[in-house]
Amino acid sequence: MDNICVIGLGYIGLPTSGIFAQAGANVHGVDINEDVVDTLNKGNIHIEEPGLADVIKDAVASGHLTAGTTPKEADVFIIAVPTPVYDDQTANVTYVEKATKNILPYIKKGDTIIVESTIPPRTIYDNVAPILTEAGWDLDNNDLYLSHCPERVIPGKIMTELKENTRIVGGYTEEAAEKAANVYRRVVEGDIFETTALTAEMSKLMENTYRDVNIALANELAKVSEKLNVNAHDVIHLANMHPRVNIHQPGPGVGGHCIAVDPYFIIEKAKDISPLMQAAREINNSMPDFVVSQVDKLTKNISNPKVAVLGLTYKGNVDDVRESPAIDIVFKLTNNKKHYDVYCHDPHVKQQHVPLRLHDMEEALKQADVALVLADHNEYKEMDPSVFADHMKTPVVLDTRNCLPASTGKTLIHPIGNLSGLEPIDA
Ligand SMILES: NC(=O)c1ccc[n+]([C@@H]2O[C@H](COP(=O)([O-])OP(=O)(O)OC[C@H]3O[C@@H](n4cnc5c(N)ncnc54)[C@H](O)[C@@H]3O)[C@@H](O)[C@H]2O)c1
Repeated sequence: MDNICVIGLGYIGLPTSGIFAQAGANVHGVDINEDVVDTLNKGNIHIEEPGLADVIKDAVASGHLTAGTTPKEADVFIIAVPTPVYDDQTANVTYVEKATKNILPYIKKGDTIIVESTIPPRTIYDNVAPILTEAGWDLDNNDLYLSHCPERVIPGKIMTELKENTRIVGGYTEEAAEKAANVYRRVVEGDIFETTALTAEMSKLMENTYRDVNIALANELAKVSEKLNVNAHDVIHLANMHPRVNIHQPGPGVGGHCIAVDPYFIIEKAKDISPLMQAAREINNSMPDFVVSQVDKLTKNISNPKVAVLGLTYKGNVDDVRESPAIDIVFKLTNNKKHYDVYCHDPHVKQQHVPLRLHDMEEALKQADVALVLADHNEYKEMDPSVFADHMKTPVVLDTRNCLPASTGKTLIHPIGNLSGLEPIDA
């Protein structure tokens, strides 16, 4: 099998390296972070993802996977570096540009170059291709086969979805799409659809924009339901019995590196004609304020309230805190005029990855006035709700993920979609 060089060994690049190595390819992984490279060369991993550790351990032990801070010659280059947004919410594609420049000394005629990073429409044509053509390669005549193959795995199931998901392969030329499709056919069991790079870029962005808009609708329903004293969860349950309706679940906001970011890549290129996408972003970004307003309401009669925050990641059972609304909520509470005393707990997050002090569960809950569940980790879903009553001053819980059981005994649980019974706690 071909030699593959994967640039960027994060949540996407590392599992991708692992499955290609497992399938028998010789994979060289590259990362600018020396700690990532050292950890990998010891057969260990630096991220949490079920099933990944064993695959990487075996791949390193068998010699099919090596890592370094510089690329090596290969037949296939896969670029999986970050594409964040700047503060003004425009895309930062400089990581992709740098990664492309970094492989220039190692590429040869006939190589396949695949950008897996999520990128704004036209990035392949306007940012990546010019770097290669300026270096003398004729892409129109397939000196190199350049394509964009967006990734659509869900953290927590990356190892199975990498193989099972349907893939879109967008080529700079038709031949480039075919070459890239053949690379993935070695590991992907799902269907692989070939198209142009631009259509692939837009398809990936629209997948996450679709989800952002639908989550915004559920979040708006939660706010409207609070005003109208309706239980949004009952409404969603019943409305979804319609065969063509699928209202999503409300929550504390949208985080992570995909749904909270990708719509901006389209908005940036079509600001005047994308009001729905912009409104969805605004609604989802407003949810942390909505959550804080509910905590304010609960603690109206208490001075210097103690709040236990359970869960800091952007979703349950992952260790990823990027763009997490939970972090936003904690800062909004600590900077609030009420001077909340906030104690955070998250069994999945390492202290060095968050700018907040972490506590164990007992410390966080001890004498707390309110507990705020911000991530639906199994540890919280499976917890006996009497734990809240055992430790808290007043066992009142605001469940922004609707993941806990109903109120029981002394423990009062308010799910975000059903805030009609929410009354200020007695001082
Ligand atoms: N995480 C997901 O679930 C997911 C899903 C689909 C698509 N994506 C997209 O995939 C891309 C990568 O995301 P991720 O979550 O793996 O990011 P990540 O931050 O976990 O990993 C990226 C890695 O690239 C390294 N890096 C940065 N610049 C580099 C360079 N010039 N050379 C070598 N290494 C470099 C970083 O040190 C980091 O380890 C992004 O565009 C993201 O939007 C991510």
